[in-house]
Amino acid sequence: MVFDFIELVKSRQACRDFNDLPLEKELVEKIVEVARLTPSACNSQPWKMYCVTSDEKVEKVRDALTCDGRNLYLKKAKAFIVLGEKATTLKEDVLKKFSIDYFVKYDIGELIAYITLTAKSLGVESLIVGWLDHEKLKKVIDFSEGEDCSIVIALGYSNSPLRDKNRRKESEVIEFI
Ligand SMILES: Cc1cc2nc3c(=O)[nH]c(=O)nc-3n(C[C@H](O)[C@H](O)[C@H](O)COP(=O)(O)O)c2cc1C
Repeated sequence: MVFDFIELVKSRQACRDFNDLPLEKELVEKIVEVARLTPSACNSQPWKMYCVTSDEKVEKVRDALTCDGRNLYLKKAKAFIVLGEKATTLKEDVLKKFSIDYFVKYDIGELIAYITLTAKSLGVESLIVGWLDHEKLKKVIDFSEGEDCSIVIALGYSNSPLRDKNRRKESEVIEFI
């Protein structure tokens, strides 16, 4: 399936009804291979993409994301990409003006966009998940010292039709000056 980029952006949507179709590991490999090209401040790449594909680990990550009765629709998600985030380094002159972790969240946001759009381009649906139990997640993922995690991306398939986008009015979010 090949998408025009604008159509791709319009067709990506949060998936909350994954179906039973198995997800090929090769597709997850392709998604992260492309996402590795995501730009970041000073090319610092302050991330690690932990790809969770085995049934046993998928179940454990799911448990960490469905804490407090949230995200229960992840029941049929077939794989997860857990985004480890850790400031690496910035150029010396940049560090004189900004703290070492100043750009990390922006970089991670960009990574999320690359992952979800690459997935969609391959016909794979995704859900960005920010509601998670860190302690439970730490028992599944061997995060390095100082590495944090705010986002996990769930992957799988869905038969759901495209929903209308619910967005703030153009006049509220765009201004030409
Ligand atoms: C940083 C971030 C965290 C999110 N966390 C969750 C989450 O924990 N559970 C959930 O169902 N959706 C989550 N979402 C999905 C948003 O609710 C969704 O992207 C938004 O409502 C727009 O809908 P759309 O993706 O279908 O266009 C998250 C999205 C982002 C960007």
